[in-house]
Amino acid sequence: MMERKAKRMRLDKFLCETGAGTRSEVKKLIAKGSVSVNGMPVKDAGARISEETDRVELCGAPVLYKAFEYYMLYKPAGVISASKADLRDKNTRCVVDLIETKCRNDLFPVGRLDKDTEGLLLITNDGALAHRLLSPRKHVWKTYYAELSAPLSDEDIRRLEGGVDIGDETPTLPCEIRLTEPGNPLSIRISIREGRYHQIKRMMEACGSEVTYLKRLSMGPLMLDETLSPGAYRELKEDELAALLSL
Ligand code: URA
Repeated sequence: MMERKAKRMRLDKFLCETGAGTRSEVKKLIAKGSVSVNGMPVKDAGARISEETDRVELCGAPVLYKAFEYYMLYKPAGVISASKADLRDKNTRCVVDLIETKCRNDLFPVGRLDKDTEGLLLITNDGALAHRLLSPRKHVWKTYYAELSAPLSDEDIRRLEGGVDIGDETPTLPCEIRLTEPGNPLSIRISIREGRYHQIKRMMEACGSEVTYLKRLSMGPLMLDETLSPGAYRELKEDELAALLSL
């Protein structure tokens, strides 16, 4: 498991990362004397503080700081898998907006689900973890529940499981498909270990079917907490985070 060391950092950077304002806004607040460290006003924006041991207050209120945040979100349909920084139109609702209790302003979703897809999305600011989860070389399995417009035949399932041409340079990697109810080929569980654009939709199209509903159930060892409702989220539990960090 990767170790994360507490850093010493500039006071203005610390405040920016908590969402207290832009770099120039927090510099003004510091210069005005609105910021104290361990009870003493500090007017030097470049003062170095420890994110773990120093107590920072802004206008008398403690500033909460977390070096890393990890949230499991049940993404609802209709919301874009992006952070505000990715969006040109700042009025569009994105998944990071749903994390109302976040301390940091640099969270992003790990991978993307289509706007109409629901289900598990990890939201964090841990770029190294995101990189490992999304790396094509890691082949992290992702499992989805899908409802289809036209049934898959046994031959379709065999073809999809072996890898199918969806118009890219290479066919898809082998995957696993199970009917969720025996005898109902309109609702499936599908596990893939890539993350190509519209991958499952294109795989079903390659068999003459269409996805009418799609929900992600798991990503690697992380399973969607079924007590969450669409739009709800919670912090990752220690064992969930440990399992992800040990990938
Ligand atoms: N495959 C898709 O087609 N859409 C998603 O959102 C995820 C996987």
